[in-house]
Amino acid sequence: MLENIWNSLLELKRILDASDPKDISILVSVNDEGSDIRIDSPEKGLTSSVTYVFSNTDESSLVFNLNEKFDLVISDNVPISAEYRFIENYLPYCFSALKGRRLKRAFAITHYAQSLDGKIATSGGNSKWISDEENLVHCHRMRALCDGIIIGINTLRNDKPQLTVRHVKGNNPVKIVIGSSSSSFSSLLHQKEKVLLFTSNSAKVLQGVEQIEFPEKVERPVFILQQLYKMGIRSVFIEGGSFTTSSFLISNMTDEIQLFIAPTIFGSGLQNFELPIIKHVKDALTFSKYNFQIMGKGVLFKGEVKYRAKGTDHQ
Ligand SMILES: NC(=O)c1ccc[n+]([C@@H]2O[C@H](COP(=O)([O-])OP(=O)(O)OC[C@H]3O[C@@H](n4cnc5c(N)ncnc54)[C@H](OP(=O)(O)O)[C@@H]3O)[C@@H](O)[C@H]2O)c1
Repeated sequence: MLENIWNSLLELKRILDASDPKDISILVSVNDEGSDIRIDSPEKGLTSSVTYVFSNTDESSLVFNLNEKFDLVISDNVPISAEYRFIENYLPYCFSALKGRRLKRAFAITHYAQSLDGKIATSGGNSKWISDEENLVHCHRMRALCDGIIIGINTLRNDKPQLTVRHVKGNNPVKIVIGSSSSSFSSLLHQKEKVLLFTSNSAKVLQGVEQIEFPEKVERPVFILQQLYKMGIRSVFIEGGSFTTSSFLISNMTDEIQLFIAPTIFGSGLQNFELPIIKHVKDALTFSKYNFQIMGKGVLFKGEVKYRAKGTDHQ
């Protein structure tokens, strides 16, 4: 059943990517054979909603209300069923394109697997594997629900990731690297998906990589998300490392942070975030909405970033 729900979420993302509704009433019927989606305008006076109707499960139907920004409105008395939890976890990302359209830039979600003391790699750059199997599957679901994945050039060099969707069904996102220093792109070039490089030095020809040079005097994370939006990439999953993720946070270009926290302490190593120094706790980055959930051997934190006064220009 969860696989059929997953298929319905992929289909919903595909439909919503191509539409621009103000209010929406979505009816998803799921059974053991598959799923069917019907989209209408809500009746007058009713808010936007997504209703899942099941046959063959304990749940007959589940209703998810949405506010005017297409955020899920979660009530206190929610059912604890596996179906509910699964939809609640991944349905919000079906609306990322609509949120990106409002912001006129790609909607940005960032993820790390980190130790309890906030390290994302050892001092030598090793990060395999702070996460576990369950978190890996979660990351692949997030990749499938985003149009692009962003990494920094050091992560490409150290981890040689493929940045594909392999552990669940779904399309591969566009692969986006940021950096001026050279590195091998071979781990990214096995599939037909586009590879983009945002760089301040596009002099070197890289086979199979489309290079976009930073104009002078732009705030780079802002330029990147606006440029991606113009290219039809409405949502991105930023997968690190520390410099890259921090630069998007400093520029207020991160909408949601996801942290998989593993039960381990490094005591040394690469810090998750390097942000401008603050003097008072009240100046810390906070979240308008957040939750913690048990995931595999650890905990997943998800928080919607509350934008704050600008820090330094971190380029
Ligand atoms: N645990 C995890 O979840 C996780 C996830 C990802 C990575 N990692 C680890 O993180 C480490 C790498 O992190 P890192 O902080 O050293 O490097 P990084 O963020 O991967 O790459 C940094 C480089 O990317 C370019 N860059 C990124 N953002 C930029 C911006 N806004 N403007 C201009 N250039 C930008 C710059 O390249 P140039 O200097 O060439 O201009 C910069 O030096 C690796 O060891 C990896 O294993 C861990």
